[in-house]
Amino acid sequence: MFRLAVILAVGLRVAQCALPSGTNVLWDGRVPFSMTEADIDASTGPYLTVVKGQNESASYYTTLLGHKIPPTPLHNLPLLPSEQALSVSIDNTSVFLPGGSTPQYGFRRTDLIAQINGSNSGADPILEPAGGTTTFHFSIQADVAHPLNYTHEYQIVFIEPSDGTHIFEVQLGSPFTDPTGPLPAPNAHWFKVRDHALNVLFQTPFLPLTWHNFAVTVGWAGSTPGSNNTLAVAYSVDGLPLQTVAPTTPNPTVTAAEALGDFHIAVIKLPLVNPADTPSEQSDVVHYGIQEGTHEALLYSGVFVTKD
Ligand SMILES: *[C@@H]1O[C@H](CO)[C@@H](O)[C@H](O)[C@H]1NC(C)=O
Ligand SMILES: *[C@@H]1O[C@H](CO)[C@@H](O)[C@H](O)[C@H]1NC(C)=O
Ligand SMILES: *[C@@H]1O[C@H](CO)[C@@H](O)[C@H](O)[C@H]1NC(C)=O
Ligand SMILES: *[C@@H]1O[C@H](CO)[C@@H](O)[C@H](O)[C@H]1NC(C)=O
Ligand SMILES: *[C@@H]1O[C@H](CO)[C@@H](O)[C@H](O)[C@H]1NC(C)=O
Repeated sequence: MFRLAVILAVGLRVAQCALPSGTNVLWDGRVPFSMTEADIDASTGPYLTVVKGQNESASYYTTLLGHKIPPTPLHNLPLLPSEQALSVSIDNTSVFLPGGSTPQYGFRRTDLIAQINGSNSGADPILEPAGGTTTFHFSIQADVAHPLNYTHEYQIVFIEPSDGTHIFEVQLGSPFTDPTGPLPAPNAHWFKVRDHALNVLFQTPFLPLTWHNFAVTVGWAGSTPGSNNTLAVAYSVDGLPLQTVAPTTPNPTVTAAEALGDFHIAVIKLPLVNPADTPSEQSDVVHYGIQEGTHEALLYSGVFVTKD
């Protein structure tokens, strides 16, 4: 009993060091055990869940794992997790129909978008303060039963301003090319963290049965004269402390018009070019191309944003 108490006390102390202090957390996407699939369907809580196949519910694609798969140990006590991991999946029905637009037949996608009080655009200025620096934390694990297809490109975590660019993104697989190049591309099984201009800042292999913990620190110039857009990346696996893997570096192609964007965690599968399509269709990656329609998924936990 004494021994157990000591172990628990030590465990708590370690965890207290690892856990970010509450006041620094600007937005918390770690899913409490009280959250239900009805909340996912209603977009209640930290995530807006409307970017998905139009004919199925959000909880058909995004499932709460309860105690089935423990969340990242980096931010949770062993055996006493404070959040449940999420599975984000796609299948052939994952064709998103944006309001007033045409179905995105080129992609298969499910996105969860950070929101505060039901507003994603309302969250943006809080998570991305002009002249400030904030860190986007997320942990990713493979779903061994529903693997990705590394001949395709996947965009899985990103901040997207309204012009569709990404302030930073995490990418897996073989980058989409038109015409199609040799597949799979080198390092297709590696995570790539890319800047706004798609330069790779950090890459690491996507190992099975492992939580991959990322923390991307973003400097937000906004329209503040004399300040710059920057990125830095920290990374670890499982319960190991985060280590800086890419020191603070300029992200110079971000414009003032791109000062705010939505924070997504997602599975977006890009197509391969379809030789039967016309050249203009082949370059329209959103609406055309080859998809197998396979059931694929990624697991997420430890998703939150802190102020530096
Ligand atoms: C996959 O979806 C596309 C687009 O809706 C459809 O044309 C195709 O027949 C589907 N394939 C399968 C195997 O269901
Ligand atoms: C969703 O349902 C509509 C109406 O039945 C249908 O036209 C569309 O093809 C369906 N989309 C997918 C991806 O199955
Ligand atoms: C969200 O709602 C809560 C409760 O009404 C309020 O205290 C908080 O200021 C709101 N936050 C934002 C960013 O609107
Ligand atoms: C992976 O994608 C390629 C290219 O579309 C396809 O040829 C292959 O059959 C896919 N593999 C699986 C397991 O679906
Ligand atoms: C902003 O970037 C420019 C060009 O890289 C550099 O000369 C300048 O010192 C930077 N300003 C700040 C405040 O970091």
